[in-house]
Amino acid sequence: MEKKEQLYEGKAKKVFATEDPELLIVAYKDDATAFNGLKKGTISGKGIINNQMSNRLMSMLESKGIPTHYVQELSQRETLVKKVQIVPLEVIVRNISAGSFSKRYGVQEGIVFQQPTIEFSYKNDELGDPLLNTRHALALELATQEEIATIEDYSFRINEALKSFWLSCGVTLVDFKLEFGRLQDGTIVLADEISPDTCRLRDSKTGEKLDKDRFRRDLGGVEEAYGEIMRRLEANI
Ligand code: TMP
Repeated sequence: MEKKEQLYEGKAKKVFATEDPELLIVAYKDDATAFNGLKKGTISGKGIINNQMSNRLMSMLESKGIPTHYVQELSQRETLVKKVQIVPLEVIVRNISAGSFSKRYGVQEGIVFQQPTIEFSYKNDELGDPLLNTRHALALELATQEEIATIEDYSFRINEALKSFWLSCGVTLVDFKLEFGRLQDGTIVLADEISPDTCRLRDSKTGEKLDKDRFRRDLGGVEEAYGEIMRRLEANI
């Protein structure tokens, strides 16, 4: 499939048209940002890892009945995906307290929840992705009630699948962010990426952070952590 004009450049990926109006090519960059773009940097080799990890995990999810945008890996950094209209919601599933949850509710990091929790943010960089509830999402007509129900159902199923996969790699899934899109016929599918940029992943034994928190919090060893989590995935998928 031939790459045509660039349609969009985001913080971590570029999107290109193809000759098929229903297919796009995404190209993963090594650029990293945090805190809504306030912190900028490069994580060498991240684009390759995020591309390959996201594709492996989406294939695994497809095999468990979760529809995704993934079509075919084209190269180390490029993947063919179905064109979707992104639902402007960032869906965050949490198993353990961390990050903005701990800050907002004044609780320490590392509390294991009795049940996973879910929250939605309005995907809008200018507004800083404000938290919203499903009634707000309906009022803003970001998605229909039926779409929100589907997104919630898929998100919890994805959590169970990812949690048990990472457990088999000796990795604890703390939390993660998902984005969904609509195909031309309105079908909701998982889109964007699943990677150490969008998940908190900890070594189950040592608690070592194997994700983008190393970059966000200036912990060092960023490239090494991305390399290590990719090796764990490849040994177990
Ligand atoms: P948070 O604790 O900062 O809200 O992050 C929750 C999870 O969502 C964490 O795994 C990182 C991921 N995330 C993104 O993928 N993109 C974002 O813009 C933010 C804020 C978080």
